Amino acid sequence: MDQATRKELTAWLEFYQELGIEGFYRRKPATAGTPPSLAEARPAPPAAAPKAVPSPVPTRTATAPAPPKPATPPTPPPVAIRPPAPSFNLFEAAPAPRSGPETLEQIRQDLGDCHRCKLAPTRKTIVFGEGNPHAELVFIGEGPGADEDEQGLPFVGRAGKLLNRMMQTVGLKREDVYICNIVKCRPPGNRTPEKDEVDSCSPFLYRQIEAIKPRLICCLGAPAVRTVLGIKEGITKIRGQFYDFGSTKALATVHPAYVLRNPREEKILIEDFEKIRDFLKGA
Ligand code: URA
Repeated sequence: MDQATRKELTAWLEFYQELGIEGFYRRKPATAGTPPSLAEARPAPPAAAPKAVPSPVPTRTATAPAPPKPATPPTPPPVAIRPPAPSFNLFEAAPAPRSGPETLEQIRQDLGDCHRCKLAPTRKTIVFGEGNPHAELVFIGEGPGADEDEQGLPFVGRAGKLLNRMMQTVGLKREDVYICNIVKCRPPGNRTPEKDEVDSCSPFLYRQIEAIKPRLICCLGAPAVRTVLGIKEGITKIRGQFYDFGSTKALATVHPAYVLRNPREEKILIEDFEKIRDFLKGA
């Protein structure tokens, strides 16, 4: 790529970043002659979360995020980044128009055999998420571990067993909730997911939340809290509080794996699960 093109492309990427759109990837070229799939045909949803800036209820006051700076788009670069879409007759071959928000199946289909980040080569299975597509409560963990990678399901290992027990303690059923993670592929050695991995994967998480429209999100552990709520403070400081995530509430609590390592802390997880129960029982 020549210097001028690179410069213009950089300007475009910065422009999109200012708009909060990140995590670009190249779509696979569609097979000639086939109409674009539903997922490919629709405009991509925003890559960034509705970034609900933490506004805890009821004890803290919400702080509105500063409005984004108006950005002046630079001149478009003279390069075609995407392969041209195959032509098809809109009236004869178009798929039925989609009504309403996308479904989890559509999001899963769009994710495909994902290779958008460097976790792909070492994973066995993509762990998309599991549970009730109309759940009132969504749990968000950090990332699949070895058991999850084997089975393709979230929270099925030791931490999952503790999560199940916590739910049981407060009368919640696993099949009623939805469980997922900030990344869908196992980080090698169960390390914390890195920023570029989270940036590639989290747009799918936000679309899942948008599709489910839960009343409450429960962020399990610091990485989920940092990603979803943008809060960098220590988890033990900010746990047990409710925040706003768009029109949904979010509760931050410790990760079950933390309690497995520090069994005395189980009481704080129980305390937070009681808050979840009380919230969901409320009007
Ligand atoms: N820990 C997580 O954060 N997620 C899982 O799915 C399992 C363990």
